[in-house]
Amino acid sequence: MQVLGTIAEVRAALRTARAPEGKLVGLVPTMGALHRGHLSLVARAKAECGAVVASIFVNPLQFGPHEDFDRYPRQLARDCELFEAAGVDFVFAPSVAEMYPPGATTMVDAGAIGDRLDGAHRPGHFRGVATVVAKLFHAVQPDKAYFGQKDAVQVAVLRQMVRDLNFPVELVACPIVRDEDGLALSSRNAYLLGDDRARALTIPRVLDAMREAVAAGVLDADTVLSSGRDAVRRLGGIELEYLEIVDESTLEPVAAIRPGTLVAIAASVGKTRLIDNFLV
Ligand code: PAJ
Repeated sequence: MQVLGTIAEVRAALRTARAPEGKLVGLVPTMGALHRGHLSLVARAKAECGAVVASIFVNPLQFGPHEDFDRYPRQLARDCELFEAAGVDFVFAPSVAEMYPPGATTMVDAGAIGDRLDGAHRPGHFRGVATVVAKLFHAVQPDKAYFGQKDAVQVAVLRQMVRDLNFPVELVACPIVRDEDGLALSSRNAYLLGDDRARALTIPRVLDAMREAVAAGVLDADTVLSSGRDAVRRLGGIELEYLEIVDESTLEPVAAIRPGTLVAIAASVGKTRLIDNFLV
């Protein structure tokens, strides 16, 4: 496995890797602090592509001024070991100056979809995500790029960007990987100290209650939302930021639940903000 720090190095390495038999190149973008969720994306990329590039970059552009950019867990050496063991061919781990040299001002804005759900609560977040992912796409020029359904809103925003800007990339969304108790894996779970870990379980439990309602045939979104809000009150321990039932592509609220409907939640547990969702 090669660890590369500059866009020029990535382009040169991939020219060679792609050349002989026209291998498919798969890209797995991450911010590091790896867990099994990230590694599931690598496994899927390995299964589908001849060369796998994983990026590790804590992207300052997608953090708000009072968010956790400074304390976001950084563990490059350990992450490289995990990627190597998972069969990654190239790690791209650029510096902030490499990605955003002084004077860089162009940003990618997906429009209204970037202001829905998390975008409504984290102004500018998806502009930062779309900008860095566009830059990673240009650096690596992957055939396929792998993202987790854990960040379903991110997937919707990036699909919009790929469509609108004609990126020749197939975006692959991979299932949410959870701990045994149901909590979705997240690098931010490392912030959950003491009782917060147990409190966080309210999040998957609320989704379970809503999933059960849907499975029982309740398809009216308002009724399912009420059962979710009841579960939040009953189970406690979290501060709800949003609980929404939307179309998975447009992120607009739907009145009637159908296949392709996304049920999404964001909540704080102490100072830690967590998200989760399920797709009908
Ligand atoms: P990060 O939070 O590190 O996540 C990297 C990828 O791993 C994302 O596609 C995310 O959805 C996926 N992922 C995280 N937890 C997962 C889980 N429990 N199951 C399955 N997949 C999971 O998302 C980002 O980084 C950044 O926004 C990025 C796309 C790298 C742009 O900076």
